Amino acid sequence: MRVWAVANQKGGVGKTTTAIALAGLLADAGKRVVVVDLDPHGSMTSYFGHDPDSLEHSNFDLFLHQGGVPQGLPQQLLLPTSHERISLLPSSTALATLERQSPGQSGLGLVIAKSLTQLWQEFDHAVIDSPPLLGVLMVNALAASQHLVIPVQTEFLAVKGLERMVSTLAMINRSRKQALPYTIVPTLFDRRTQASLSTLRLLRDAHPEHLWPAYIPIDTRLRDASRAGRTPSQFDSGSRGVIAYRALLKHLLAQQLAAQVA
Ligand SMILES: Nc1ncnc2c1ncn2[C@@H]1O[C@H](COP(=O)(O)OP(=O)(O)OP(=O)(O)O)[C@@H](O)[C@H]1O
Ligand SMILES: [Mg+2]
Repeated sequence: MRVWAVANQKGGVGKTTTAIALAGLLADAGKRVVVVDLDPHGSMTSYFGHDPDSLEHSNFDLFLHQGGVPQGLPQQLLLPTSHERISLLPSSTALATLERQSPGQSGLGLVIAKSLTQLWQEFDHAVIDSPPLLGVLMVNALAASQHLVIPVQTEFLAVKGLERMVSTLAMINRSRKQALPYTIVPTLFDRRTQASLSTLRLLRDAHPEHLWPAYIPIDTRLRDASRAGRTPSQFDSGSRGVIAYRALLKHLLAQQLAAQVA
């Protein structure tokens, strides 16, 4: 199973949309995908029609066993989505109580990694959505994954948020055997605005080797897909947003292949 996390400490940059768009395209291609919602707000869970405020069981259950994960528990938590090949490990508001704990002290940093190990046989791919806050949940997302996708909104303030995310990653890499490879993805790009264009230039200068050399445009069809509770490609496979996400997926898969060969 390949595990990707989508994370950025900045809110509203397209993390959840990116995670669902990529998961949808992988599933369209025949992959069995598990999406993991680690955001206590539960946007991904709501997207697929489940209510994070009223779910009795969620990812929170995985954190209740002193860092161990009982055999079979992750399977029991899986919920269906709009796509027959995508299952959801849902969030619930209870997850918020974990947010501010220090993962080092609580020993809960590897709970999601261990949970996904139990799902190795059932899925080809996992995509983790994380909250815009550095805490136990983001640490779990990064520790469980083999590649990190960092969506960055193409506006000036977002670039500062990116620097924070990159230094968080450097900190986390110190406790990993191998540095976590990452790809920066410019999102919500509006080619009519100067801010979008100059931010893109800024990103290209500052992060040449980690930047995906294209961008995800602003596309209202992505918002419509979320309202309909369907993956972007299920909703409108020819939309500009989906075409861009398809190119991104191709890039990520090529990078993965290159990493395997190296
Ligand atoms: N490329 C896009 N074009 C138009 N709307 C978009 C695009 N990407 C995301 N959106 C919309 O912008 C809003 C924020 O996106 P999303 O929820 O994916 O961000 P997020 O980073 O996960 O936010 P949060 O930090 O709150 O979890 C949503 O309403 C989403 O539908
Ligand atoms: Mg989100």
